[in-house]
Amino acid sequence: MKIAVLPGDGIGTEIVAEAVKVLNSLDLKFEMEEAPVGGAAYDAHGHPLPDSTLKLAQQADAILFGAVGDWKYDKLDRPLRPEQAILGLRKHLGLFANFRPAICYEQLTHASSLKPELVAGLDILIIRELTGDIYFGQPRGRRVAPDGHFPGAEEAFDTMRYSRPEVERIARVAFEAARKRSKRLTSVDKANVLETFQLWKDVVTEVHKDYPDVALDHMYVDNAAMQLVKEPKRFDVVVTGNMFGDILSDEASMLTGSIGMLPSASLNDKKQGLYEPSHGSAPDIAGKGVANPLATILSAAMMLRFSLNKPEAADRIESAVKKVLAQGLRTPDIYSEGTTKVGTREMGEAVVKALG
Ligand code: IPM
Ligand code: MG
Repeated sequence: MKIAVLPGDGIGTEIVAEAVKVLNSLDLKFEMEEAPVGGAAYDAHGHPLPDSTLKLAQQADAILFGAVGDWKYDKLDRPLRPEQAILGLRKHLGLFANFRPAICYEQLTHASSLKPELVAGLDILIIRELTGDIYFGQPRGRRVAPDGHFPGAEEAFDTMRYSRPEVERIARVAFEAARKRSKRLTSVDKANVLETFQLWKDVVTEVHKDYPDVALDHMYVDNAAMQLVKEPKRFDVVVTGNMFGDILSDEASMLTGSIGMLPSASLNDKKQGLYEPSHGSAPDIAGKGVANPLATILSAAMMLRFSLNKPEAADRIESAVKKVLAQGLRTPDIYSEGTTKVGTREMGEAVVKALG
């Protein structure tokens, strides 16, 4: 089992270190190799995704990823910015299926900005298509407008596009996932305005014929954004495109109390996967030892389940996380009165201890 460890920038190094500690405390043998990515790789090699890092990722069974990005790189040309590292890994490894569970742990019900009764017991799975849509569509660029409202003015454009096979494969992933849960799937689109998402809706409807046991409903993305805060528990599995999934998964994370709790998995058709917390590099708190490592630790659990075929080890980690929450340990992002505030390292060590 070969794991490429890519901590990246900001809090990435601190939180990945705790996840590695947890992995090393299981009685399993891993081959782990670390490489720089994002701004750290730009500083070391002049590129956010150096060939050596990409090669390591391609040869690994799974990638444990921290986070990339820092304001200090915002002035670089786009191809050199840290974000290009994660986009490049998604593209080069074909990681089209992104799983973003939003689970509200019992002890954190009060950390959510919504009323406790709206989020208690919440367990949603957002499945985001990750290698298509306006993120990757060509052409894109800046130019002098040849037409439009202001011909001759400077303009910028991106292209939203999806092909039938791209929608079909993510739809199948979503139907399969729904089958293993409550057999309810919501497909989120903007078919009332966009051709791209009319095709999306048509294809999802066709694929549904192969999954008659799953109840499918379609929802426009604006309504989905509203329903997520109005009545989040109406959702179970949600499938959507790259752009809408980016936005809705951040929204869903807040229902759970903190984005610091949310893991994610990005898989290709060979079950090779990249595992990362859903949050970013948080440069404002980097190096202070206060970041919540639980999203990364839970991402390592997803890695064991999806790419390394060790579901029992994944269960052990997830139970250990529940145990430390029950013990009242909280990093500042999930702290509330009456609980015990701990730092990144103490939280990681508590999970190791709770593995049993
Ligand atoms: C995410 C992030 C990325 C995205 C950025 C860092 C490129 O927001 O994983 O959700 O937009 O996909
Ligand atoms: Mg995002």
